[in-house]
Amino acid sequence: MDFNKVIKTRASIKNYSNKQVKDDKIIDAIESANFAPSPGNLSILKYIIIDNEEIKEKIAKACQQEFIKTASVIIVVCSDSKNVERMYDKRTEKYTRQHAGASIENFLLKITDMKLASCWIGAFSDATIKNALKIPDSINVEAVLPIAYPLKKETKQKSKPNLGNIVYFNKWENKYKKPIKKIGSH
Ligand SMILES: Cc1cc2nc3c(=O)[nH]c(=O)nc-3n(C[C@H](O)[C@H](O)[C@H](O)COP(=O)(O)O)c2cc1C
Repeated sequence: MDFNKVIKTRASIKNYSNKQVKDDKIIDAIESANFAPSPGNLSILKYIIIDNEEIKEKIAKACQQEFIKTASVIIVVCSDSKNVERMYDKRTEKYTRQHAGASIENFLLKITDMKLASCWIGAFSDATIKNALKIPDSINVEAVLPIAYPLKKETKQKSKPNLGNIVYFNKWENKYKKPIKKIGSH
């Protein structure tokens, strides 16, 4: 898919078909996440692939979002920040969160490129997920990412803030006055 199209069509999709997603596609999406920038190029994230119906149900319950269990598989993204702490001390939390965000976005863009569906899930009971997957206390759960085929072919991303309101020039709140072209017009 054209790069600009991937950026613009990535959307949080919650209606899934029951067609199974093949393993190579799941691994492709995780590999894309793994290409994201990382502080000091450290290895921080782990990805748990869940295809067991009972465990999927537990994860959906932990998120209180029933649609999640209808996905073909669910990925739980976890972080182990002990090496970040060793190198970056007070920046640990910020760096770990930012790396997770970059990786998750790579994952979602690859999912879009493969015409699959997902949704970034950040609302869940950490304790319930950790308990269901036997994740140790020292590890953080960063996100839950369902993977499925979308029920509908066309998906619409929600509208985003107008660039005229969010781009400043040289100092805070000084609006950028030059004409702003749309993505893909350069
Ligand atoms: C950190 C984070 C947490 C999110 N958590 C949830 C969630 O728990 N459930 C959900 O349905 N969507 C969740 N979303 C998805 C957002 O609601 C969604 O990205 C937003 O509404 C914009 O829609 P779009 O992704 O289609 O552009 C989350 C997104 C982010 C970045």
